[in-house]
Amino acid sequence: MSHTPQSRIDQLVDELNEHSYRYYVLSQPSISDAEYDRLFRELEKLEAANPQLIRSDSPTRRVGSAPLSAFAAVRHAVPMLSLSNAMGEEELADFDDQVRRFLEKEELPVAELEYAIEYKFDGVAISLVYLDGQLERAATRGDGQQGEDVTQNIKTIRAIPLRLRGASVKGVLEVRGEVIFLKRDFEKLNVERVKAGEEAFANPRNAASGTLRQLDPAITASRPLSFFAYGAGQVEGPKLPPTHAETIRFFAALGFKTSPLFEVVKTREALLSAYRLAEEARAGLEFEVDGTVVKVNSHAMQQRLGFRHRTPRWAVAAKFQAVEEHTKLLDILIQVGRTGALTPVAVLQPVQVGGVVVSRATLHNQDEIERKDLLIGDTVVVRRQGDVIPAVVASLPQLRTGAERKFQFPTHCPECGSKAVRGEDEAVLRCTNPRCPAKIEQRLIHFASRNAADIEGLGEKMVALLLEHGLVEDIASLYDLTFEQLSALPRMAELSSRNLLESLERSKNIPLNKLIFALGIRHVGQKTALLLAKACGSVERFLSLTEQQLLELHEIGEETSRSISNFLSAPDEVQNVRALLGHGFKIQAPEAAQSDALEGKSFVLTGTLESMTRKEAEDKILSFSGRVSSSVSKQTDYVVAGTDPGSKLEKAKTLGIKVLSEDQFKQLLDI
Ligand code: IVH
Repeated sequence: MSHTPQSRIDQLVDELNEHSYRYYVLSQPSISDAEYDRLFRELEKLEAANPQLIRSDSPTRRVGSAPLSAFAAVRHAVPMLSLSNAMGEEELADFDDQVRRFLEKEELPVAELEYAIEYKFDGVAISLVYLDGQLERAATRGDGQQGEDVTQNIKTIRAIPLRLRGASVKGVLEVRGEVIFLKRDFEKLNVERVKAGEEAFANPRNAASGTLRQLDPAITASRPLSFFAYGAGQVEGPKLPPTHAETIRFFAALGFKTSPLFEVVKTREALLSAYRLAEEARAGLEFEVDGTVVKVNSHAMQQRLGFRHRTPRWAVAAKFQAVEEHTKLLDILIQVGRTGALTPVAVLQPVQVGGVVVSRATLHNQDEIERKDLLIGDTVVVRRQGDVIPAVVASLPQLRTGAERKFQFPTHCPECGSKAVRGEDEAVLRCTNPRCPAKIEQRLIHFASRNAADIEGLGEKMVALLLEHGLVEDIASLYDLTFEQLSALPRMAELSSRNLLESLERSKNIPLNKLIFALGIRHVGQKTALLLAKACGSVERFLSLTEQQLLELHEIGEETSRSISNFLSAPDEVQNVRALLGHGFKIQAPEAAQSDALEGKSFVLTGTLESMTRKEAEDKILSFSGRVSSSVSKQTDYVVAGTDPGSKLEKAKTLGIKVLSEDQFKQLLDI
């Protein structure tokens, strides 16, 4: 078959564009890369020989433009506004309320209300202006009124058609959407950057934005960006369908990728359940999303609803809980706890995780640092979910530059220099000095805490201040403090001094179990303290408990018994308790703390726990007379969230139910 150059060029352009579309938009490659390259080279040659025949939608036009010196400013014909956020189901329900109320007030047919729900892509917002079906100009959002012309860079993105597919679209059609990095492409890019001695991008969003802002389009072309269309801007000529859902379908037909999640719902229940399902599907997606966008489906209704300030009344970003961010592990510090345990703490380059800046995270113990393969200087994954304390989940060894160093776990206490030893079957090292200042500080803080002696006004800062000025040396000495001493301290007003003395006085009326708990004996949490208090009835009986008697208290395990008898046989400790009592303590009958009463408390477990199986955790709850349920409701008292929790955590948050981390859960159960 013979061709004129014109007809062969036309054929090649159409064929290559079709392959590109199948590969980049549909993810269904139809020919091999080698075959594509062969056709591409043939087209290049023909175009070189016949420059007058080059089509503006030729795939060769995607690359090869010269670097710019700056991006030109572009004024948006229709401003690019932003969305207001709904955090969780309750706020999404509020949005639904507002829409319905507004429609009722305007006497619009509420019964016809439908919502379209799709993903909220976590990338860079872009406006694409097509004139008679040809990509004319691409711009960033900028301040919403005016953005930057990034046409050259945008043309390198193969998921964006240079010419709209299908029937001709006459006039102006502005397609808006999000430029994103697929997760796997992002990981690859970072590995390459680090190899080249460049700084890794913190997340796919930053990578997308950095790539689009390259003045040299060759750099942009070398990085695999993608694009999802989610709405229209300026439209002059073409007639859009009457609903958002149909518009999105229209965009798909024009050759764009659109949200893989796309649902139209009528009721609030269906809306909330679509949102929940979207969150569950999130982890398995190829790209990052930070929520869903819920839009009133009918364009006519959208128009009536209009805008409030700078955000539409007809749409809302229903955000998910932030899960993970990448940051640098700057250092590892050692904290010495109340029982002398040396706990490593990660010092992180501050990073926003779910709206909270995280700069520290516990690493638990030496084994964990090794298990997670953490080196100082590593890029690490930090996870925070719900109210759970932030954790370092893993390092990203592929991003190492060679400048990282191994953390040397100390052999001595960093606070007092005494030798630290690892107990039998223990993961932690402990400082052996009974008078270690760090231990004393932590014991004082614990003693004063709410579930212990409950000394108002004696928090961490105050304890540090007292120690710094040498005013206290142990628990008993707290009760020797005078008004003169306190009010002479920096920033201590008369009133606060008096209040602290009053709290100290009040704390002398203490139930026996709280006193035992307040002593800070290893393994003796609130539950065990209550048990001991009930069994002994008085401080004297407690102080004279023998190991044998302890073992006879069936609910107390061997390890705990050993720890209690160690405490009771240490002359220092016993002397301390006696000194304390010498200050006129009036010990009350044991009293169960609120958090202690698992009786009638309902628990829901979600995610994976590290130190026990789901079954073991359930058995524990049951053995403390608690109940375990499989779904979260208003009747749930606690949700225990392990790693990778599901939608139950989100639900707990929206219902305002207390969320416990694994550590908090173990504390509550005293294990
Ligand atoms: S619709 C009037 N739909 O979220 C605004 N926006 O604050 C209409 N985004 O920067 C925006 N995914 O780039 C819409 N499916 C989606 C989206 C989406 C991500 C971004 C958008 C904007 C921000 C909204």
